[in-house]
Amino acid sequence: MRSADLVVAGCRELLTCAGGLPKRGAALREVGLIENGWVASSKGEIVFVGTEEEFRNEVALDDGAVTIDGAGMVALPGFVDAHTHLPFAGDRAREFGLRLQGWTYQQLAERGMGIQTTVKATRAASLDDLLKLSLARLDRMLLSGTTTVEAKSGYGLNLEDEVKQLEVLRDLAALHPVDVVPTFMGAHEVPPEYRDDREGYIALLVDLIVPEVSSRGLAEFFDIFCEPGVFSAAETRRLAEAAKAAGFGLKIHADEFVSQGGAELAAELGAVSAEHLIAVSPAGIAKLGASGTAAVLLPGVPFFLMLDKRAPARRLIDAGAVVALASDFNPGSSHLNSMPFVLQLGVFTLGLTVEEAVNACTANAAYAIRRHASVGSLEPGKKMDLVLCDIPGYVSLAYEPARNFVRTVVKNGKVVVADGRKAGAR
Ligand code: NIG
Ligand code: FE
Repeated sequence: MRSADLVVAGCRELLTCAGGLPKRGAALREVGLIENGWVASSKGEIVFVGTEEEFRNEVALDDGAVTIDGAGMVALPGFVDAHTHLPFAGDRAREFGLRLQGWTYQQLAERGMGIQTTVKATRAASLDDLLKLSLARLDRMLLSGTTTVEAKSGYGLNLEDEVKQLEVLRDLAALHPVDVVPTFMGAHEVPPEYRDDREGYIALLVDLIVPEVSSRGLAEFFDIFCEPGVFSAAETRRLAEAAKAAGFGLKIHADEFVSQGGAELAAELGAVSAEHLIAVSPAGIAKLGASGTAAVLLPGVPFFLMLDKRAPARRLIDAGAVVALASDFNPGSSHLNSMPFVLQLGVFTLGLTVEEAVNACTANAAYAIRRHASVGSLEPGKKMDLVLCDIPGYVSLAYEPARNFVRTVVKNGKVVVADGRKAGAR
């Protein structure tokens, strides 16, 4: 008999999302459905997943164990949001207003707004301000079922303010149950003081900030905005090589608006992921399909920027690419952070099946931030990170968009959201 200190009992449908990782092609549709499913954990680690009968035969509950009633509910792994720009200050509501009058995201950027607006506000904010803002955002994410989040710096664009953002991410670990995976994105944009000296900024990154962030262990990944007008393919390659040499895993914002071979480069460099891919080329699709580089699609961006173009999700899946979905939560191009909504956008705007979208928000998303050994699926040995949804069947994850159906969230074996509210909060 295995002992357990928490059990989620009798879920109408339990989606384990278990199976070989990463999930490609037809495997992306396998959600590991168990009807009347039970999941039990001990000290935050899953010790059992199966049916009621198996549970009764195999598991003994500790005295004082917590039992959560899953009757009538759909359970699935906690969502993994594999791409966010979490620690920023200020907002861009005024620029949103300009966009509604016809300005494009790129036109705003060319006029010194866009990312630069948020850089000004983030530089002016204290570590404590950013911490408070980020905590409130993590609370909202948790209420919609996110239990692991990747978060990028990239609104400091100098040593002091990049480090400040990364220290915020470090401090969140002690203050919030959601796991935060830190990415250093000093290569998000060239800051205004280097407008006429791109080379100077790249040298600052390569010679000073990359080594400093690496030696202080403040980030796991290095991300670059590879896009015409931001960093060229040649600059991306140079930055990526410096980051790799300093021990970072690589992520690339690739082919968001215009392709300059970002996906191809990501695959060639062995990047962990290529993200966006709205404008990915046929060669880029083929290269991703043949690589271990995850294709992280961000359907909040074309939605929020009201673009007609979409990432070619079906072609990527058919080519064998490892497709994941994420929010890209940021104040300019995707001011949204609900993973159920991202899942729904995956279905409604990218043409994914519900099963594909579920795996893309859980198992493959965990793979895209190299956390697949511990989260993203419900299997013995993994973390007990689970979401209980008040819906009649898993198809309703997409079938009733915008309804908040997340009732219970378990993180590391602890109930952190109960009855749709943060546990402990009134
Ligand atoms: O992923 N593409 C670059 N970075 C973000 C947008 C950041 C911003 O607009 O503040 C993105 O779309
Ligand atoms: Fe982004």
